[in-house]
Order: sequence, then C-alpha cells, then structure tokens
Amino acid sequence: MTELTRDQIDPLVHPLIEAAGGTVLTVAIDANSIGLVIAAPEISREAGSKLEHDLRTALAPLAGTRDIHVVFSQPRRAPDPRAVGGKAPPRPEPIKGVKHIVAVASGKGGVGKSTTSLNLAVALQTLGLTVGLLDVDIFGPSLPTLIGSNARPEAKDKVLQPIEAFGLQTMSIGFLLEADQPVVWRGPRVMGATQQMLKDVAWDDLDVLVVDMPPGTGDVQLTMVQQAPLSGAVIVSTPQDLALIDARKGIAMFEKVGVPILGLLENMSHFICPKCGETTDIYGEGGARKAAEDGNIPFLGALPLSLELRISADAGKPFVLDHPESPITEAYLSAAKAVAQRLALL
Ligand SMILES: Nc1ncnc2c1ncn2[C@@H]1O[C@H](COP(=O)(O)OP(=O)(O)OP(=O)(O)O)[C@@H](O)[C@H]1O
Ligand SMILES: [Mg+2]
Repeated sequence: MTELTRDQIDPLVHPLIEAAGGTVLTVAIDANSIGLVIAAPEISREAGSKLEHDLRTALAPLAGTRDIHVVFSQPRRAPDPRAVGGKAPPRPEPIKGVKHIVAVASGKGGVGKSTTSLNLAVALQTLGLTVGLLDVDIFGPSLPTLIGSNARPEAKDKVLQPIEAFGLQTMSIGFLLEADQPVVWRGPRVMGATQQMLKDVAWDDLDVLVVDMPPGTGDVQLTMVQQAPLSGAVIVSTPQDLALIDARKGIAMFEKVGVPILGLLENMSHFICPKCGETTDIYGEGGARKAAEDGNIPFLGALPLSLELRISADAGKPFVLDHPESPITEAYLSAAKAVAQRLALL
C-alpha cells in the first residue's frame, strides 16, 4: 500500500466541498480507508449526494484499494413531507412505565458503551432518579457480566419482570439465553426480540431507561430508532480520528429520524499511571471535544483509560458505587447531570 498524506488529498477535496458551501472537519487516512467529515448544514439532499459522488471520483485514483468514507456532520435537509402532500412519519408510541429513553451508542465496537451505560445509569440514580438499564446487544449481551448476575426473569402474563441490580431495573437477552449459547437469528427475529425487550417488560415508573446499544447501525439499532420513542442519544467515542468518523455514522442514524444527540462522551481518552499518577494523552488531546464542538453537540466529558474501571467492569460492580471519591465517578456524575438537565429532569 502506497503512503498517502493530507497534502495529496486536501487540494482535491477542499475546492469541491467549499464550492458546495461546506467545510472540511476531519481528514483521516489509514492503510484501509480515507475518511472525510464535512460540515454542510445548508446543503440539500441532492447537492449532498452530488458532492459525495464528486469527492469519490476525485479521490478514486489516489485511494487504490482503500475504502472512501464521506460523512456529513449534520443532517442534509430532507424535503418536508407536508410540502409534497405526504405525512410526517408517526412518532413511536410511548413505552408503559417509562418517561424517557436514552440510547448509548457508538459507530465502532469496544469503545466502552456497556461500561458507560451502567455507570451513567447508576450516576443518574445517584441524582435521585428512578432508572432502568436495557441491554439490547442480542449477539453479545454484556449486562449479566457487568452486574455479576445470571438471574432469570420471571414472566407474568407474557410480561417479563426486570432483574433488580444496584437499585436499577435491568433487562438483557443474556438473562434469557443459556450461557455461551450462540445466537444465530437474523432480520425479523432480531427485530422482534428487540421490540419484546423494550415493550414486554414491566418497567415500573422509570424517569430514564438507559439503553446499551450494540455497535454500528444494524437491525437492532434500526428497530430502536424507528420503534422506540427515544428522548435522545449519548454517543461514546474513543479519541482516534477513525473512531470519531464511525461515531459520526452513529450520530447520522439518530439525526435522520430527528432524535436529539444529548452529547458525546470521550472514553479511554488519556492514561493515568496507577503508580505515579502522571497523565499521558495516548491519542493526542481533545479530539472528541473538538469533534463535538464542530458538530454543535454537547461535550459530556472525557474518561481516562483506567485499570480500576476495567477491573470493576469485570468484577460485576459499577465503578461509580465502588469508588465514590474517584475523579472518574465525578466525570460520570457530571455527564449524568448534563443528560438529566437536557431531559428537564433536574
Ligand atoms: N475507560 C476505560 N478504561 C479501561 N477499560 C475500559 C474503559 N472503558 C471500557 N473498558 C473496558 O473495555 C472493554 C470494552 O468495553 P465495553 O464492553 O463497555 O465496550 P462496548 O462499546 O460496549 O463494546 P461492544 O461494542 O462489544 O458492545 C471492557 O473490557 C471494559 O471493561
Ligand atoms: Mg457493549
């Protein structure tokens, strides 16, 4: 694979993007891909598609076997359906027993969604709210490990009773399957199971239901954004550029259906040496904060790469309860406060 630098890419893409009224937010290059993140809030859907096509054509000779990703940081303006005589898409029905549903999502896997969901849920509870936690990762449920429980939910009249853990009402497909049983479901079955875990659970007077999403934008995610009345989404990202580009794909999925992004949380942002306490910025400083500012998304804070956090997650105990005095707990609480305020719960 030939070396490729920004100096080769910038002169090709800047004139095209600027002529279309946009600006370049990020150019990321690695061995397998070229990623462009563009801010173009005023661009129409047609002009956006044309720009994407022109960029791909311009980059193709340089890209070789690399994939080209073009991501718009804000939604391209969709035609107003009422203007052409259609109807706006119906909002999903509310879920019984739940005031607000908040999805915790990312584009890339393994960035810390599940760890964040649990600690954010506990932090929201610390603020005096009644909180539920739903793990909809059908293919890799992690909630049973995170809360150290393999309890089986009881079903009453086909309605599942949530498993109580650390004061949270929780549910996961992991409670319903045998351990290590592979899930080989596809499309409709996955969508059905996702809906069931959302709607056929006896949620009891929740202020917030935190939903731990699987990575990416597959069937489960689509079911959630289309069928669940989401109040908003929290996006988790690591600081590397490419992870941020993936995060933007996740963001676009919510923006398309008008679900507000409550904020971006940077995870594994810096490393604090457990021996000397020195902070090292492994990926460089402030990538997620800058991406959030550029995309007009609230920045919810940066959580360090921490051995103690990893140990708590594996030991089945929420870090926030285990280490009440830690600055990491403070960071979760501050993110939880920002989310609760956006939902007008505080
Ligand atoms: N800030 C952190 N410091 C250290 N380890 C972390 C941190 N956040 C998450 N981890 C660890 O990284 C691993 C992946 O985290 P987690 O399962 O929360 O990610 P995920 O985004 O939910 O993954 P998936 O996409 O597979 O669902 C886990 O072992 C977890 O304990
Ligand atoms: Mg997970």
